[in-house]
Amino acid sequence: MEITLTSPLDMHLHVRDGEMLQLVAPLSARDFAAAVIMPNLVPPVADEQALRAYAERIQTALCGAHFAPLMTLFFRNYSEAELRAAQNIPGFFGVKLYPAGVTTNSDDGVRSLQAVEPTLRCMEILGIPLLVHGESHGFVMDREAQFLPMYRHLAEQFPKLSICMEHITTAAAVRLLDEYENLCATITLHHLELTLDDVLGGALKPHLFCKPVAKRAEDREALLQAALSGHPRVMFGSDSAPHPIHKKECSGCAAGVFSAPVALPGLARLFAEHHATDHLQAFVSDNACRRYGLTPPAKKVVLRDTPMQVPTHYRSFGQSVVPLYAGEEFPWSVCAVQE
Ligand code: DOR
Ligand code: ZN
Repeated sequence: MEITLTSPLDMHLHVRDGEMLQLVAPLSARDFAAAVIMPNLVPPVADEQALRAYAERIQTALCGAHFAPLMTLFFRNYSEAELRAAQNIPGFFGVKLYPAGVTTNSDDGVRSLQAVEPTLRCMEILGIPLLVHGESHGFVMDREAQFLPMYRHLAEQFPKLSICMEHITTAAAVRLLDEYENLCATITLHHLELTLDDVLGGALKPHLFCKPVAKRAEDREALLQAALSGHPRVMFGSDSAPHPIHKKECSGCAAGVFSAPVALPGLARLFAEHHATDHLQAFVSDNACRRYGLTPPAKKVVLRDTPMQVPTHYRSFGQSVVPLYAGEEFPWSVCAVQE
C-alpha cells in the first residue's frame, strides 16, 4: 500500500537551539514541507530581534533544506508597533500563549488573561493567529478541561481572532471546536495513540511523558474520530519535543515526546489501520493551508507499508535523544521524497 502526501505540515514543533537544533531540524525538514516553530527557548523568543536571530539559526541548521520554518513569538503584552514589525519578518506565523508555569520553559508565560486583552485585540485586528497551550494549574488529568472556559471566553470576546487549541487531549475539547468557528485545534500523533495507561499503567515510560498528559480511552477515541474524519478545523501538530536522554531517564523527567522522525509513518499506519487514508492529506496539510492561507514549499512524500528499523537513539553534536517507537521494526516508512 502506498500514500502520497503533498507538502505535509507540522503545525506544532519544538526544534530547540544549539546542538539539539542542529540534530533535530534536518529530521523534520526531511519529511515535512514546513512547520510551526515553538518559541519556548530560555529566554523565550519574545521580540523582533530574538525572532529574527532564531529564524537565522534555524536556517543555518537546515543546511539549505527545502523546508519553511513558520515562526512564532512567545506571548507577552506587545504593542501594535511590535506586532506590525513581527508581521514584516518573513515566515512569521503567530503568537504562542503559555499560562505561566504549565509546561517546559513557560515561567514567563501569562498570569492573567484579562491583562493581555489589549494585545489580543490588536492581534485580532492585524489578523495574527493566537496559539494556546490550554492547561490550568489544577489536577493533572483535569487541566485541559479546566481551561476550556478560557477558550470559550476568548472565542466569544475576540470573534475574529483565529485561536488554535494546541495539542488537544480530551473529548470535551473536540466538542468545543464545533461551537466556535474561530477555534481550531492541533492533535499530536502520540495523543492519537496513547492513553495514560501506556505512559504509567505498567512500568513508567519516560519517553512517553508529555504535557498535556495522555488521557482516557474515550478521549483518545474522540481525537481519533476528529482526525480520521478529516474535520476541517483539526490539523496535525506533532509537538515533537526532544530532550537529551539524561533529562528523560532521571528523577524529574522532562515532558516531551520526540516524534518528528517517525511522525509521517506513524500517521500512515494509524490512518491505514482505520481505513481513513483518504483524509490524511486534509489532516496533515490541506486544513492548515486553507485555514491560514499557507502556500508551503512543494514537496511530495511517498509512504509505503514497507518496514523500517527505528533507531534506538539519534546522536550527533554531543546530543543523544530517544525517538517515539525507538528500536522497533515499524511497519510503515517514507520511501521517497520529491521536491
Ligand atoms: O510535553 C511537552 N513538551 N509539552 C509542552 O507543552 C512543551 C514541550 C517542551 O517544550 O518540551
Ligand atoms: Zn509544544
